[in-house]
Amino acid sequence: MTSNPTPTDLEELQASALRELEQAASSEAIEQWRVAYLGRRGRLTQVLRGLSSLAPDERRTAGAAANRVKAVLEERLAGAEENVRLGRLQAIAEEGRIDVTLPGRHVPVGRLHPTTQMVREICDAFASMGFQVVEGPEVEWDYYNFEMLNIPKDHPARDMWDTLWIDHVDAQGERPMLLRTHTSPMQVRTMQNAEPPVRVVVPGKCYRYEATDATHEWHFYQVEGLAVDEGITFADMKGTLYEFARLIFGSERKVRFRVDFFPFVEPGAEMAIDCFVCKGGGCNVCKGTGWIEILGAGMVNPTVLEGVGYDSSRYTGFAFGMGVERIAMLKYGIDDIRLFYGNDLRFLQQF
Ligand code: DAH
Repeated sequence: MTSNPTPTDLEELQASALRELEQAASSEAIEQWRVAYLGRRGRLTQVLRGLSSLAPDERRTAGAAANRVKAVLEERLAGAEENVRLGRLQAIAEEGRIDVTLPGRHVPVGRLHPTTQMVREICDAFASMGFQVVEGPEVEWDYYNFEMLNIPKDHPARDMWDTLWIDHVDAQGERPMLLRTHTSPMQVRTMQNAEPPVRVVVPGKCYRYEATDATHEWHFYQVEGLAVDEGITFADMKGTLYEFARLIFGSERKVRFRVDFFPFVEPGAEMAIDCFVCKGGGCNVCKGTGWIEILGAGMVNPTVLEGVGYDSSRYTGFAFGMGVERIAMLKYGIDDIRLFYGNDLRFLQQF
């Protein structure tokens, strides 16, 4: 192209440009075409540059004509690019890689294990009454799990807890370590580290050397509780546990306390709630009795208080302990404790 374009030159330029563009089937070819005509050294760009050397009159007419050609080329360029894009989408759709009628992909949402949910619910109930939540070790000393809880070595009361011992023998030839059989040892650890008033609940995992069946697991969770201060009475214990039962099992619950034995409390008790399924009439949840036992409790044995250095003539307290899965089983009508740890999503997803 000379620096003096005639109308015929421009027409030819446009015609050949459009012919070439029609042949450009890929985005690479289209880009090459754009550079060849509209790029900084492109043919049309050079024409436009050459206009500056023309006389004003000629420049006006030639300039207008060149700009019209430029507009046509740019418009066709956009059209060609769009065609390539549509062609690509069409190809994908024809290959069947996108079926816009398919439902969206399910994003699984995690949730807390039912035991964890129950632990939190129980702890929340006691927290609302001023109890603090503390945790302790699962591998525990005989000293805390038994001795300091008024369960001496070789005492028959030890038979209440089938124990998994840690295979470690001390200088006396004894095995002093075990997997805690209950969360009660944290009573002792807590009192050793604090002066009264003490109000704690202790959630955590426990272990028993036990065959599993519908109501027994060799590992399970407990929540232990302890309140010690001046002037605490059996009535405080009843009131606290009554409120707990109502919070978890419904405000119309009744409770029943009966004598039971645990070495670390005196007197000891078991608490039952009236059956919320049959309302006391008798069904298979309450085994026809109208009552369901939910926890053990009692006034902290003075021997335990003295053991941690508390003055038992000044301080009194109560303690309680419950199995978390058992509470959940009752609350949700679950008939086999093994479901909790079977890793079966059909069970877990219900919570
Ligand atoms: N630790 C007992 C158990 O595992 C439960 C228990 C009963 C705890 C009475 C207590 C209590 O604090 O007072 O069987």
